[in-house]
Amino acid sequence: MPSAQATLAPLVSTAIEHAFGTEHRDADPVLRPSQFADLQSNAALPLAKRLGMPPRDVAERIVAALDVDDVCDRVEISGPGFINLTLSQAWLSSATRVLVSDPRHGVPQPTPERIVIDYSAPNVAKEMHVGHLRTTVVGDALARLLEHLGHTVIRQNHIGDWGTPFGLLIEHLLDVGEGSDDALLVETDPNAFYQAARRKFDADPEFAARARTRVVALQSGDPETLRLWKELLDLSKQYFNAIYSRLGVSLSDADLAGESSYNDDLPRVTAELIDAGIATISDGALCVFLDGFTGREGKPLPLIIRKSDGGYGYATTDLATVRHRVRNLSADRILYVVGAPQSLHLEMVWATARKAGWLPDDAQPVHVKIGNVLGPDRKILKTRSGAPLRLMALLDEAVATADATIAADRPGMSAAERARLAPRVGVGAVKYADLSVAHDSEYVFDLDRMVALNGNTSRYLQYAVARTRSIFRKADDTAMDLDSIAITQTEERALAMSLLEFGDVIAEVGRALEPHRLCTYLFDLAQTYSVFYEQCPILKAAPHVHASRLALTGLTRDVLVRGLHLLGIEAPATM
Ligand code: ARG
Repeated sequence: MPSAQATLAPLVSTAIEHAFGTEHRDADPVLRPSQFADLQSNAALPLAKRLGMPPRDVAERIVAALDVDDVCDRVEISGPGFINLTLSQAWLSSATRVLVSDPRHGVPQPTPERIVIDYSAPNVAKEMHVGHLRTTVVGDALARLLEHLGHTVIRQNHIGDWGTPFGLLIEHLLDVGEGSDDALLVETDPNAFYQAARRKFDADPEFAARARTRVVALQSGDPETLRLWKELLDLSKQYFNAIYSRLGVSLSDADLAGESSYNDDLPRVTAELIDAGIATISDGALCVFLDGFTGREGKPLPLIIRKSDGGYGYATTDLATVRHRVRNLSADRILYVVGAPQSLHLEMVWATARKAGWLPDDAQPVHVKIGNVLGPDRKILKTRSGAPLRLMALLDEAVATADATIAADRPGMSAAERARLAPRVGVGAVKYADLSVAHDSEYVFDLDRMVALNGNTSRYLQYAVARTRSIFRKADDTAMDLDSIAITQTEERALAMSLLEFGDVIAEVGRALEPHRLCTYLFDLAQTYSVFYEQCPILKAAPHVHASRLALTGLTRDVLVRGLHLLGIEAPATM
């Protein structure tokens, strides 16, 4: 069921066409909710400029040509030429009935695409930082949303599982002993393991020499070295999976496609670039220079394909990702949910891939830029109370903050109930904080604000759901049938209009890849419901009104739960 806006927009366009000719059909109907009517069209003003006519005359001619009898029961011109449209009760009621009976709550199914999503991508034997947390949370919400729109989503977790750091990591593993407590740190506190290895590498020349020899052994495929590498990888996977399961993220081992999985492609990628004359040797390294990419003082910026020591780098692997995702995964869209600072890197990789013929015009790469998460000092959040940040500890802290806040707000709640609730509130709050601001903007990590009951928080939304559920526990829902739905009061109208927008919002998020728009929508819906709840009695209303308002309540609950689910956030039964 399309929203009122989506229903009226083509009707206004048709009226413009009838009044002023086909060449003006593309004029924007500019439909917005207004104080004076359900929707207001601002089309006449820009059109009047184009036509050189008084705006009010333009509005009058549009209205004369406007056929909205099935949708509106009032059309009025106000001010300089605004067209105020009041929806008819009959249309609103019947649209709401259709929505209630639609299991998809109005979410359309656009032409299905194959969409590859590259997200999360932590590095082996290193701590996941808040940047990884954010790409994980945003990427997972996009995956869920796009799947719900009917697209085929292919998750690709491009973990950093190859390269020179493995020399020192493997030697450190041998020093502390496989299976020792220190070795198991890779699973529980990877930074502690990494830092210890790093310190030795910097301080002990003998260790550093061993680490370098080990890199060579790894690259030449020495079986024992590969076995040790695999052991580190397996420990890290346990760590990643523990974080994913705690977050309720849909990534599994089946989605792993780390850097090492492209090892065999790299010589081919390189050879193709050389053969096509795209890559050239500069200072001993094999590089690609592209038009339009210059650094300081206009010096051409190289994309390094093979370093002078013969090693491949991050860029070469990413070229292989593009090639693989187009060639083998048949991607229509490839989303790289990656930190905003990597934008130049990705632009250069795509431009090179296009030149090499690996990225055809009908495959669209998109950088879903992830902005920084800041500490209270407005610097990138790296430590927590002085100690280096551990993501698990951060999540523990979020749950503890949620627990304390719930204890303060709901003194009557049992400890057992609170223990059940706190993880869902705390983890939900962390995820929602990442999702509710534009993914490319920075924000300050503030747990107290994130678990607050007031404001645009997941807890507010979870609470709104719990309230709708509690109404059902007290209500008589035997009388609920579609025919009872009648939208009459102002607050009922506002609620119905908001509910009717859900499908448009999801479709738009799927196009623009902006989950924060869904958050804004859900917050608006919850607030609109809250006004309805205060102004329109449900339990004490006459039976047919009771049934109608209960249907609106049920639909609100379903849309909120579905919306939260698409964001990857749970809606507990009680709050
Ligand atoms: N592992 C990288 C990091 O931690 C992110 C990889 C993102 N994906 C990609 N295809 N480059 O920064």
